[in-house]
Amino acid sequence: MSPAAEPLLSLAVTVTSERRVESVLRNIVQGLASQPGVALTRIWLLPSADLCGSGQEPSRSPEQTEYLRLVASAGTPVNSPGEDWSFLQGHFSRLPLTVGKVGQVAVNRNPILIKDLLSQNDWILRPEWAKREGIRSFAGHPLRFRDDLLGVVGLFSRKPLTEQEFTWLGLFANQAAVAIANARAFEEVERLRCQLERENNYLQEQIAERKRAEVALRQAQADLTHANRVSSMGELTASLAHEVNQPIAAAITDANTCLRWLSRDQPDLEEARVAASRIVQDGRRASEIVNRVRLLFQKGTLQRELVDLNETIREMMLLLHSQATQFTVLVRTELAADLPQVMGDRVQLQQVLMNLMMNSIDAMKDVDGTRELTIQSQRIKNGLVLISVSDSGVGLPAQQAEQIFDAFFTTKPHGTGMGLRISRSIVESHGGRLWAFDNPPRGARFCFTIPTKAEAHDSVLLGDRTGTADGSRSD
Ligand SMILES: Nc1ncnc2c1ncn2[C@@H]1O[C@H](COP(=O)(O)OP(=O)(O)OP(=O)(O)O)[C@@H](O)[C@H]1O
Ligand SMILES: [Mg+2]
Repeated sequence: MSPAAEPLLSLAVTVTSERRVESVLRNIVQGLASQPGVALTRIWLLPSADLCGSGQEPSRSPEQTEYLRLVASAGTPVNSPGEDWSFLQGHFSRLPLTVGKVGQVAVNRNPILIKDLLSQNDWILRPEWAKREGIRSFAGHPLRFRDDLLGVVGLFSRKPLTEQEFTWLGLFANQAAVAIANARAFEEVERLRCQLERENNYLQEQIAERKRAEVALRQAQADLTHANRVSSMGELTASLAHEVNQPIAAAITDANTCLRWLSRDQPDLEEARVAASRIVQDGRRASEIVNRVRLLFQKGTLQRELVDLNETIREMMLLLHSQATQFTVLVRTELAADLPQVMGDRVQLQQVLMNLMMNSIDAMKDVDGTRELTIQSQRIKNGLVLISVSDSGVGLPAQQAEQIFDAFFTTKPHGTGMGLRISRSIVESHGGRLWAFDNPPRGARFCFTIPTKAEAHDSVLLGDRTGTADGSRSD
């Protein structure tokens, strides 16, 4: 082994383990420049040398690239005070391929050795510099990776270079080229990784944003559902006041009766007791109504429980009793005795019934003849409970029977057009369906199904008592 072989070998190992192109280049030139007798070492790369990294682009001939770019330089001036040989700008930062031995190495892709300047002085671009610094020898090796030329490594020596050293330098140049190409590949992978990370972060942000929007939408739906309930209750205020007033008035009458029995010369305690227990019942009736109203006004969280829809129907009839009476509407029920319970949100299901019943009463307000509101419940196949609300009102708007479920569709001067939309959402969130058709000879009929077994429809059932905004059917 030549004396230069050992350090060159360990330098090759060092640079091959580097991952950054800049470090590889710096280590190569500094490592070579620190060898005995070496004055200056430089690396020029073709601007297109990045094609070496991936090996995917077609290789271009050096002629097409036209110049080499100085990318690394290291050396120690002896007689050039103030000069910095690691400086990359200036005179030879861009070297046309037609110029000098370095250009020749690139064009021919063959190494060049100038053994001793003393016997040959036409090879160097700056002979005065070579003379001043005692430069005697030059070795230029192409840096090749696979079939691509990356550039040239050039070494200026103050002692004559031997053939042996030249050969070792050639072997080192091959390793150096691999190290440069590897580092480029690493950098490219790192760049892609960063890009992917950025894209991933962007996607994560989008997902988070979407989730926030979904939460906001759900909240808006919940608010809307609640607002619908509150506004329906608002319409009922007068009727409800009347409804509550009734048991209170009855309680007063019963209290007076009770007092009368007690204030007799011989108080009739038995009669007084009967009257007093009627007062208790009256009080309970009033408080039941108030409680139901309060529930409907509440914005409480969703509660899934076993609901007896027959009971829900009766409750809503109680609440709407005065409203129906006011418009001389006869309310009839045909409720299946063996109706199974359903799993659902009691208040939401009450809201559906309230919307349908109030719509029916509205539809009958102005019609002559019988005004009849019929509510039926029955068990049908596939484990479903079917509820129907039919009336003898004006009937569904002609040609618009399906539009009535659209948001904001209303034929009423003060309607919001959200009642049916919200009702359909609630029913579908319970795994059922809501639809409407004519009720000959006059009026409309609304039917909805609710499965007796719970079906989770989390998109809607999460959060507050709310419904989907799209109202789309599940079938
Ligand atoms: N029982 C019915 N008979 C005839 N038409 C009806 C009946 N129920 C609903 N409609 C029609 O469907 C429309 C939409 O009803 P929906 O309950 O969604 O809104 P609205 O009753 O108009 O307003 P809101 O419920 O907000 O007071 C009504 O305006 C009406 O034209
Ligand atoms: Mg309505």
